[in-house]
Amino acid sequence: MKDLRQLPPSLDHWYAVATSAELRKQLLSVTLWEKDIVLFRRPTEEVRALEDRCPHRLVKLSGGSLKGDQLECPYHGWRFAADGQCLHVPGMKPDDFRYCKIQSYPVLERYGFIWIFPGRLEMATQREPIAIPEWEHLNQIGSIAPMHCAAHFSYVIENLMDMHHSHLHRASQAWSDAELERIEEDSDRVDAYYQATNYYKIDQIWSAAQLFIPALRQPHRSPLVNHYFYPHWRTTLGKDFALYCLICPVNKTQTRAWMLHFTSLEAFPALHRLPKVIRHIVKKSLTHSARPLLKKLVDEDMSMMVQEQQAYQQEPERRYWQTNRTLAAVQRVIHGQAMAYPKTD
Ligand code: FES
Ligand SMILES: [Fe+2]
Repeated sequence: MKDLRQLPPSLDHWYAVATSAELRKQLLSVTLWEKDIVLFRRPTEEVRALEDRCPHRLVKLSGGSLKGDQLECPYHGWRFAADGQCLHVPGMKPDDFRYCKIQSYPVLERYGFIWIFPGRLEMATQREPIAIPEWEHLNQIGSIAPMHCAAHFSYVIENLMDMHHSHLHRASQAWSDAELERIEEDSDRVDAYYQATNYYKIDQIWSAAQLFIPALRQPHRSPLVNHYFYPHWRTTLGKDFALYCLICPVNKTQTRAWMLHFTSLEAFPALHRLPKVIRHIVKKSLTHSARPLLKKLVDEDMSMMVQEQQAYQQEPERRYWQTNRTLAAVQRVIHGQAMAYPKTD
């Protein structure tokens, strides 16, 4: 098997590259697996994605500006249409640059994120971004924590799929004593079914106080179900919590990601009878309430993943103990996806 920590991702999937809030009127440069991409909104608000490289001298177009519907390079002022076609070169006739075009990428805006499909064009319409039904649901309260981790994306997914690391988060009592019951595996997914002790129960209007007052927590066993929906991740803990991690592999040693946490208010039927406008206000006012806890968990995880990456770089051949068979399944999927993508050598 090829060295996992050197493998590229399969590009035939939708990748989250930025939040919608990050992309307002300005040009936004993102990197998705060694490709610099410039994002911008057309006057209609529709998002477009072009390679962030002027074909003239290969400088970044994201350092330029938007002129209506056209992107203008900062250096000599060449202009490009939203589909990448060069439309204007100062001092040249249109016929002389009619074959000048830069790459554009399929792009979607959904669930508060900008998604790019960097792979084969014909596959873009056959695949969808991971579904996040909680995003719009009025009974679900969302929080987001961004990550920028100096590690290969495989370390991020392995951390997320390995529920035996609650020790790291013991101060937050996020979960504990996870027991792996079974695993299902396919070419593009791994489902790992655990049982774990869960400390939080959302059954009273004051339940959120459990986040800050440990004495209010009610330990109980719950199913903890982890899914690697390649290339992203989803988990549910009991009925009250769902978590997602949207992965954006930057290069072999850098991964951006966003953790999304949803707390369910399904246990409060009185709330569901309120007018929609009030429910929207409740949802909006509670949004991001779990962010401090989420950020703490993310920081703890990132510190471990960065050390794993550094240890790998110091001694790539060194063997390590692998005790959770979920990770072997995850590694098979990462390997299989990389090999199935046509551009992988
Ligand atoms: S480098 Fe972009 S116009 Fe010359
Ligand atoms: Fe963790």
